[in-house]
Amino acid sequence: MYTLNDPRQQALRTMRASIPTSIWNRNEELTSNLKTRINKHPLNTHPIISELYSGVYDLNAIQSIHLEYRHAIVKLFTDALGMAQFQTRQLEPRLAPGAKIAPRFLLTLNALDEYGFQPGLDSKKYYRGNPNAAHYPLFERVLDDLKIDSTERSNHKPSIQSQKLHSYLEGSFSSYISILTLLAVAETQVIIFSPALRKATELVGINVDEGYYQVHGTTSDKDTNAADDDHEDDLWSALNQACHEDDNEHLQHITLEYLHLWNSFWDAQRSKNSPLSRPASRKSDPISSKKLRELDVMFS
Ligand SMILES: [Fe+2]
Ligand SMILES: [Fe+2]
Repeated sequence: MYTLNDPRQQALRTMRASIPTSIWNRNEELTSNLKTRINKHPLNTHPIISELYSGVYDLNAIQSIHLEYRHAIVKLFTDALGMAQFQTRQLEPRLAPGAKIAPRFLLTLNALDEYGFQPGLDSKKYYRGNPNAAHYPLFERVLDDLKIDSTERSNHKPSIQSQKLHSYLEGSFSSYISILTLLAVAETQVIIFSPALRKATELVGINVDEGYYQVHGTTSDKDTNAADDDHEDDLWSALNQACHEDDNEHLQHITLEYLHLWNSFWDAQRSKNSPLSRPASRKSDPISSKKLRELDVMFS
């Protein structure tokens, strides 16, 4: 008999049991190296973070940053999550039949959050949720509050940096382990930038106590009802089950490239919008346009 309590732990246990312990432990070392690289990356201390908190960005700047962020990640986040769920099928030839279900189940907890479900039962003892509470529509409500009309939304021409982030994630869709890795980086990016964006948005007069900024951040943040740290941990666990020693170099490479793209994105937002930015003064993580073009062929 099985219990329906504690679904995250049940999924984790099932995934661990699907491969030999020695391989799980070796893979855990690999993912832990990836986490260290992420945590040490200059993105964590990007100068725009403190500027967002300090209120130097006016309404125009906050509007522009949101339109850029929307194209870079918000529009396709659940596409990527859905592709990760689908591509668990790549486990099938290597692992026992059915081994793809536990990570798919685990990724579903992330998807439920993204689609506007909440833990608990409704008055009919059924799931609680509403698609209008899904994260992408909630982001559109932030754009409403920022007075960005539908013409402006559809006419927005994303910067090269925003386009590159979009296409880099999209380019990973055929590889299960690549999507997991980029999604884990994306969750980290959300954990780093969401509180700062929330503050900057509040400082131009928008209510951030409910909606998009209420559901992003970490479980330890008292101001939010968010679980992006759990999402990130679950993505690493799925990678622990899925990856192979030979994948190490590729995963290190795409982690760094995607981090570079995010850093470059925030550099661009800063130099375009910040009255404090000195375009030539920051050289911590440059990415040339030649390098950006090379990224196009990464997944081909
Ligand atoms: Fe989200
Ligand atoms: Fe998340």
